[in-house]
Amino acid sequence: MEFSSTKSNEKEDHRSDLKTLNLYNEIISTLPKRNGWKSDEVYQYQGFWHTFFYLEGLLSAQQHFKPQTNDIILSSFPKSGTTWLKALSFAIVTRSSFDISANPLLTTMPHECVLSLESDLAHNSFHRNQDTPLIGTHVPYTSLPKSIIDSRCKIIYICRDPKDTFVSLWHFLYNASFKGVDSSAKEDADFEKAFELFCDGVSYYGPYWNHVLGYWKASLESPERILFLKYEDLKNETLFYVKKIAEFMGYPFSLEEEDKRMVQKIVDLCSFQNLSRLEVNKSGQLHGRAYLIEKNAFFRKGEAGDWKNYLTPMMAARLDQITEQKLRSSGLTFNVGSKV
Ligand code: A3P
Repeated sequence: MEFSSTKSNEKEDHRSDLKTLNLYNEIISTLPKRNGWKSDEVYQYQGFWHTFFYLEGLLSAQQHFKPQTNDIILSSFPKSGTTWLKALSFAIVTRSSFDISANPLLTTMPHECVLSLESDLAHNSFHRNQDTPLIGTHVPYTSLPKSIIDSRCKIIYICRDPKDTFVSLWHFLYNASFKGVDSSAKEDADFEKAFELFCDGVSYYGPYWNHVLGYWKASLESPERILFLKYEDLKNETLFYVKKIAEFMGYPFSLEEEDKRMVQKIVDLCSFQNLSRLEVNKSGQLHGRAYLIEKNAFFRKGEAGDWKNYLTPMMAARLDQITEQKLRSSGLTFNVGSKV
């Protein structure tokens, strides 16, 4: 992968960084603050909870980020299938440049193929990958940089049953190490405490329900611009949704490609089984400004319904009840039930 940064760009960015970082610090210091799941603090900005570094990145992106024509934003609540969506979208848009057997996904992690708005690109959009129009983000719809909303970039959003999202997030957070967070925090892996906070809306980019509803409502208003997906649907009917994603992005499969089983080849390339066994995703760490994460933490089980192994029936019923209440009258449902 080629990134188009130059030394002088980096220096320039760094200079403006020092000035603006102080300003962001000042803004953040005035925001409502709470203890997060680990020994960290989260800050409430525009109705959502953020860690310090991601919020700094979001403020910077809101101020500086300029999308390119035809950019496609891949958005999600954390642990809802971001890695999978990035891999599928990347394979779709690069299929005419690379043979499937030589796709960069075989040697580069999906998060390095598709960079993140509020971490990788926040302070230096020169670092964007010029080879693809794809940009990832967890930023809530209402906090997206105005430049993205005004540009009418297409957006694909993926969400997941909140019970599985919570369980996946809990496992992930206690494996990941975020800068500014005490690394001994692994020991306070308090499942019940995290559950209470999640129900209360306090999790990175939470409240979960507001995040999902922001994109859901926007997708109802502008279905041609925002494609709303659920992890469970993608899991059940992967071929159908891969075709739908490709069409939505403006990269539809031709009849000839379908005859040559291109859709199935992309599904296989991006399957949990395949990606999780690749050396590039099995070992090493993902380094960002705000985090240091074992790459294999992004590939745990890749199943729908794993919550049954972790949540008590009471916890599951409680989350379902909150979901029912928050999504009522929105038309959005998760038909996954709370029965263990
Ligand atoms: P589990 O923790 O339930 O296994 P994100 O990519 O948004 O961080 O979400 C991570 C979740 O997606 C994890 O769920 C992970 O295992 C799962 N996942 C990662 N790659 C996947 C793939 N190719 N297919 C299906 N699920 C995948």
